[in-house]
Amino acid sequence: MTKTKIGIIGGSGLYDIEGLEDRRWVSVESPWGKPSDDILTGRLHGVELAFLPRHGRGHFLSPTDVPYRANIDALKRLGVTDVISISACGSFREEMAPGDFVIVDQFIDRTFARDKSFFGTGCVAHVSMAHPTCDRLGDACETAARDAGIKVHRGGTYLAMEGPQFSSLAESKMYREIWGADVIGMTNMPEAKLAREAELCYASVAMITDYDSWHPDHGEVEITQIVATLMGNAEKGREKVRRLPEILGVERAPCRQGCDHALEFAIMTAPE
Ligand code: ADE
Repeated sequence: MTKTKIGIIGGSGLYDIEGLEDRRWVSVESPWGKPSDDILTGRLHGVELAFLPRHGRGHFLSPTDVPYRANIDALKRLGVTDVISISACGSFREEMAPGDFVIVDQFIDRTFARDKSFFGTGCVAHVSMAHPTCDRLGDACETAARDAGIKVHRGGTYLAMEGPQFSSLAESKMYREIWGADVIGMTNMPEAKLAREAELCYASVAMITDYDSWHPDHGEVEITQIVATLMGNAEKGREKVRRLPEILGVERAPCRQGCDHALEFAIMTAPE
């Protein structure tokens, strides 16, 4: 049995976690560059936890400029076993309303200006992304959210866009009506792909802040609205995070999907 070490990547509005024992902000070096910020480490209910604010404390990194490879590598170097990504998202579904949370289970990657792999010339690997998130972690996130009194939807397809501008009305309608996406955000790709390459279980929790631009009864998306919804939900989001360690437990249950063995049959390059 391995020990659980939870890695939380916090998005807009989540820059710290209170109540950790042995709380310390640590600087982690990575050959992939500097992570977004120092990483907060500590323990909650006996479970090790590492928290990284994706945009940096003070929110100075745009979605394109987030050092995704350094972030995932730094969490791996700290011994993280399970990554939970939290991010603000727009909704393409009437029933997924602002204030609700969605446990994402699929992605459509429309980003184009980011480094998306740890592999390349010299060592070639092709991991499977058919099931990009971990069900075991998704179960834990769902339970934690329900226990915290959050309305949570299990399953949803996340459209990852480059940004930083929001979508046009035509794009919003296409993603919703033709591509079947449920939520939209700017940061979960390539994060999810890199977590898989790093053999880390990964779950994504979308905090719905707006209806993007498709909804006839809602105006176009504005950052003031996103921030207001996030602030209204911040305490519930923090409560959800505080409940995760007890649910996941100190002793780590094996991953049923094999996220933690993703490279076993993925490397093409012959060993020297
Ligand atoms: N983050 C929050 N709302 C969003 C939206 N509508 N589009 C992209 N990213 C978002």
